[in-house]
Amino acid sequence: MAKLKIGVLISGRGSNLQALIDAAADTAFPATIATVISNEPDVAGLARAQAAGIPTATINHRDFPDRAAFEDALHAALGEAGVELVCLAGFMRLLTEGFVGRWWDRLINIHPSLLPAFRGLHVHEAVLAYGARFSGCTVHYVRPAMDDGPIIVQAAVPVLADDDADQLAARILAEEHRIYPLAVRLIAEGRVRVEGERVQVANAKAPGTSLLNPLPD
Ligand code: GAR
Repeated sequence: MAKLKIGVLISGRGSNLQALIDAAADTAFPATIATVISNEPDVAGLARAQAAGIPTATINHRDFPDRAAFEDALHAALGEAGVELVCLAGFMRLLTEGFVGRWWDRLINIHPSLLPAFRGLHVHEAVLAYGARFSGCTVHYVRPAMDDGPIIVQAAVPVLADDDADQLAARILAEEHRIYPLAVRLIAEGRVRVEGERVQVANAKAPGTSLLNPLPD
């Protein structure tokens, strides 16, 4: 079967992009990365894509008079590459309703919290300040509001008593690298449907256990 063509939008380090590159290196993976586009020049994620032989583009938002013109250029580049699913992977520009509308249910994002808790920036600091016992990460369809939209996959991790934001971020990042390829695979296999703004995953298996934190003595 033909592989789903994805376009990955990045702004920086690109470790989630790398997880997708690594997953797509398996011939059995049902999606292929058609293009990687960064709004920031010379970032590590672009080098990762180039090392994997994936076409890249830099579309610097500063080169455009307004958001609409920037997004028109993004849209055109994605179309030229034949992209069918857009994956935001640490893409740090808010996308307008116009762009989101053009890619409705074909645009996904990864966010380092258990949405809808802890949207926005400085997520791990906010989780620690609140004293949440669990955090995690979410892959979701993008809607016009920030970090909003139907949830496809989540992973939960415990928050430890002596965590700092970097330690918590690292624990969550390891899970991000598992759930982003999983979400793309489920979509590419045609198992994901959005119904009434909730995602249904065909033949989904759920974990059989609950977690407590702290554990009883
Ligand atoms: C990731 O932790 C991702 O979840 C987060 O930025 C990081 C990018 O890392 N995204 C957001 O906060 C979006 N709201 P990466 O460039 O190494 O993939």
